[in-house]
Amino acid sequence: MTTRYALITGITGQDGAYLAQLLLQKGYDVWGLVARRSTDTLWRLRELGIDADVRLIDGDLTDSSSLIRSMQASRADEVYNLAAQSFVGASWNQPLLTAQVTGLGAANLLEAMRMVNSQARFYQASTSEMFGLIQAEKQSETTPFYPRSPYGVAKLYAHWLTVNYRESYGLHASSGILFNHESPLRGLEFVTRKVTDAVARIKLGLTSELRLGNIDAKRDWGFAGDYVEAMWLMLQQDTPDDYVIATGRTTTVREMCRIAFSHVGLNMEDHVVIDPAFFRPAEVDVLLGDPGKARAQIGWEAKTSLEQLIAMMVEADLRRVSNGQPDARARLAA
Ligand code: NAP
Ligand code: GDD
Repeated sequence: MTTRYALITGITGQDGAYLAQLLLQKGYDVWGLVARRSTDTLWRLRELGIDADVRLIDGDLTDSSSLIRSMQASRADEVYNLAAQSFVGASWNQPLLTAQVTGLGAANLLEAMRMVNSQARFYQASTSEMFGLIQAEKQSETTPFYPRSPYGVAKLYAHWLTVNYRESYGLHASSGILFNHESPLRGLEFVTRKVTDAVARIKLGLTSELRLGNIDAKRDWGFAGDYVEAMWLMLQQDTPDDYVIATGRTTTVREMCRIAFSHVGLNMEDHVVIDPAFFRPAEVDVLLGDPGKARAQIGWEAKTSLEQLIAMMVEADLRRVSNGQPDARARLAA
């Protein structure tokens, strides 16, 4: 069988690490673009035990030359654009950086792909955040977008550019409109991991309080390990297209929190403090995806329930905290 080559931007992120693992299992030669940082960003690849199995290339989505070099070096026939400034909260503080990386970064990569190998297949990490102020109770591929954050706006540009390059140049370019997905490898700034990490610390007596913002917001949460399978499936189709990837169930932050605390026999009411500092200038109140098209056309559906997901995350954080594992807490503004 001939070797297949994949390039993943954002390989050091949550999804990048799980996708790299999946592609390695499928026999791909996996290359990843890694932006220079002064801190250790390879911890997820190490946790999955695959850091020595992937090939890492220095580069940045804002540096076109590094993207052209990455396309050439990797000889990629599948390109997964997962890199982004992905934290919605930070996008109000860094709107221009978010536009450059999360928005224009996709243009840089599409152009590099067109120059080096226009036959390669392209995956764009689009997001349910584009639905923002929702225009339908259940959001599908045909629901109009109404982004509510600089991040959502930047992602919408990248999304439409992916569609446009498909239509303009005939590229095999697909966009996955993924709803929130979490895992033990989730960044600590996102609410699920912030909660599961705090639950572990409270259970082990290291702290007693968890400060949160709007706990009435509702999200359609799935497991990242399930969602990377959908990315791969999209690029295996004869025809490129866009797909909503979701569970079809929505839950409040409050209820997610309750599930996490009760997993270790604690009451959230004894520990959670509402702090206005964590409210956002504009909120996405509710997200609920309709994954019907993905089920019918690419045979994908979510396998992991929210209860299983949160249990998995709390258990991983209990292990980490018990082992005194360092984390990036100091960097957070969550
Ligand atoms: P993540 O953990 O925040 O990972 C983001 C990745 O992008 C990291 O590897 C990061 O590198 C990299 N990156 C940031 N700026 C870069 C730059 N200028 N050049 C190159 N790389 C850069 O995000 P994730 O949860 O895995 O999500 C993956 C993608 O899916 C993102 O595009 C996100 O916006 C999108 N998405 C996520 C969800 C979700 O619920 N997780 C839902 C829908 C869409 P460092 O490690 O060096 O920071
Ligand atoms: N982060 C955070 N921290 N969120 C909080 C907090 C808190 O202390 N308290 C309440 N929330 C609420 C947020 O206001 C939001 O309504 C919800 O919890 C989820 O916040 P995040 O976990 O930060 O995720 P997100 O929905 O804003 O964005 C994630 O999902 C998008 C897909 O819909 C990110 O992964 C994005 O990159 C992704 O595109």
